[in-house]
Amino acid sequence: MKLIITKDYEEMSKKAYNEFSQIVNHIKEPKIGFATGSTPIGFYNEIVKSYQTKGVSYENLKAYNLDEYIGLSRNNEHRYNYFLNHHIFNRINIKKENIDIILDNDNPIIEECERYSNILLKNPLDVQILGIGANGHVGFNEPGTKPNSKTRVVELNEVTIKDNSRLFSKIEEVPKHAITVGITDILNAKNIILLASGKNKSEAVKNMINGDISELCPASYLQKHDNVTVIIDQEAASLL
Ligand code: PGA
Repeated sequence: MKLIITKDYEEMSKKAYNEFSQIVNHIKEPKIGFATGSTPIGFYNEIVKSYQTKGVSYENLKAYNLDEYIGLSRNNEHRYNYFLNHHIFNRINIKKENIDIILDNDNPIIEECERYSNILLKNPLDVQILGIGANGHVGFNEPGTKPNSKTRVVELNEVTIKDNSRLFSKIEEVPKHAITVGITDILNAKNIILLASGKNKSEAVKNMINGDISELCPASYLQKHDNVTVIIDQEAASLL
């Protein structure tokens, strides 16, 4: 793992953009897996800035994502397609037909899982962007996830429901189930960029980098991948 520790969130976001652009600029039709959550928003703003102020084109970028709640209506603003449209896709020149977000269709859930896993395994992403949960999850691969897991339906862990409830008006509104791409799918990407910010991520970051590879911290499976760049601020790095 390549580790970059930054002084704060802003620097983390800028470094993430630098790493991302170094990979993507050399690829004609880069395939990118986008993460949701608060952490990558600053990085996505840097991508938008590069389009708006430097004329970087994202016309040929193909976009995928990591996970989606089950049970929210198509136009619910907590859906991850809404998040990605709002924070990035509507603000750059990506073509709509190049965006393939999990469950942004009427497919039956099981078929959708198979469809998505096939895409990720047959056409490896050039970059998979990741955050990390305070419990060590990546995507919605909660503690207990096996390394051979693929895209599937999962039950969300209590820590995740509590963490994500900050974005809902009450905790009861947080869905209990989601689709997540699996560890096998994630590790199939050619490059992985993982971001973390803040003290509440420090324990998970420590377990990911220095802990044993274990289902107790699914992010530790990233130790098996050859091209992972971990970009974290000082607070997230405080237990290293
Ligand atoms: P966050 O979520 O960026 O909102 O902290 C990260 C995650 O749960 O993977």
